[in-house]
Amino acid sequence: MKKTESQLRMEISDLVKEYYDIRYAGRKYIPGETPVRYAGRIFDEKELQLLVDSSLDFWLTSGRYSEQFELDFAAFVGSEYAMLTNSGSSANLLALTALTSPLMGERRLKPGDEVITVAAGFPTTVNPIIQNNLVPVFLDVELGTYNIKVDDLEKAMSQNTRAIMLAHTLANPYDLERVMEFVHKHDLFLVEDCCDALGSTYNGKHVGTFGHVATCSFYPAHHITLGEGGMVFTNDDLIARAVTSFRDWGRDCYCKGGENNTCGKRYSGQYGQLPHGYDHKYVYSHIGYNLKVTDMQAAIGVAQMKKLPRFIEARKNNFKLWNEGLKQFEDHFILPEATYNSEPAWFAFPVSVREGAPFTRTELTNYLAAKGIETRNLFAGNITKQPAYLEIEKRVIGELKNTDFAMNNTFFFGTYPGMKPEMIEYSLEVILEFLMTIGTM
Ligand SMILES: Cc1ncc(COP(=O)(O)O)c(C=O)c1O
Repeated sequence: MKKTESQLRMEISDLVKEYYDIRYAGRKYIPGETPVRYAGRIFDEKELQLLVDSSLDFWLTSGRYSEQFELDFAAFVGSEYAMLTNSGSSANLLALTALTSPLMGERRLKPGDEVITVAAGFPTTVNPIIQNNLVPVFLDVELGTYNIKVDDLEKAMSQNTRAIMLAHTLANPYDLERVMEFVHKHDLFLVEDCCDALGSTYNGKHVGTFGHVATCSFYPAHHITLGEGGMVFTNDDLIARAVTSFRDWGRDCYCKGGENNTCGKRYSGQYGQLPHGYDHKYVYSHIGYNLKVTDMQAAIGVAQMKKLPRFIEARKNNFKLWNEGLKQFEDHFILPEATYNSEPAWFAFPVSVREGAPFTRTELTNYLAAKGIETRNLFAGNITKQPAYLEIEKRVIGELKNTDFAMNNTFFFGTYPGMKPEMIEYSLEVILEFLMTIGTM
């Protein structure tokens, strides 16, 4: 008898589990042999099963899994709208660009307006400012948190300041209370880049729900992954509308894929100088992009969301283990500190080699690398010193001393759920061995 479609889907799903068990399950860690990575994707058969299920739909573009993932994500962070996009960088571009939309009225960001950010960070937190012909104003960071020096915010203000765009560094929230006070005092927009910070809370509330709009990344190093992917989230109806439009070619129509005439006036509106009743599906109210994902990516996200609470716990635990283990070397290292009132879902464990230590960061990280232990620098270091940023229009506040210090002395270890306690133990032994080799222990 011929099998039905759902029988076949079930059989395929069972086979995928069998494949997962053979191909991926039960890998053993061997100290000194298995690389200690700083990050990596964590998945089981569920991700593969949903990915294959979605591929059988052959819908390809955003569809049922994208909708599901957006709903699950919004419910998790406690945000009204979540809009899926193809990367955290795209999410940042969409979030800031939405603030230039005519939908923002008088408050819309205009070319030449200034946006406060920090110089120690990831390039695509800053790039949307430049891409929108706005002017970045760079502030320094605190050591230990690597977040904005809030005391310097007032120094950064000018007549043109309209917004703040900042990442919660390595998941450690910045002082949201003081940043929001400043935002309200000067009537600014705040864009929270939470690309590294999914699951972090401040005063018991998820980061990303304090400012006007926020972003997240699902690149494999992050808390959950779709391979490539990002999310913009907000409670603001108009920002959500602008983000969706910029993401979907700039169109005015907000019908979901496969739907028509959601607005009820598909052929009866008047837009720009178009003839009356021009098909609303082809009306463009923004200079947009196409930054959507495929439903196959979203399907992976649906499976990953279910694991998120346990991933967050694992990151917090790994942070604790690094912290306890590295305390003995505090003479040489500045260890990280969680911001007051926060509970970071640590993206990583940042360490700075102290001034005057008898070794450099690079000597240590090279030694670790030779023993199979991965580390990373704090992203772009001082971004104003990067080749692409030398000539851009910008303002720099003060000397960025800590940013330069972090550029030269800071690195991080992984806290991702694939980091097992034995890996941290092994890494600590290697650090001790390094210190003994150079005669400091
Ligand atoms: C703080 C921050 N913002 C934005 C991004 C960009 O995300 P994506 O790699 O998904 O484009 C990253 C990347 O890891 C990041 O760390």
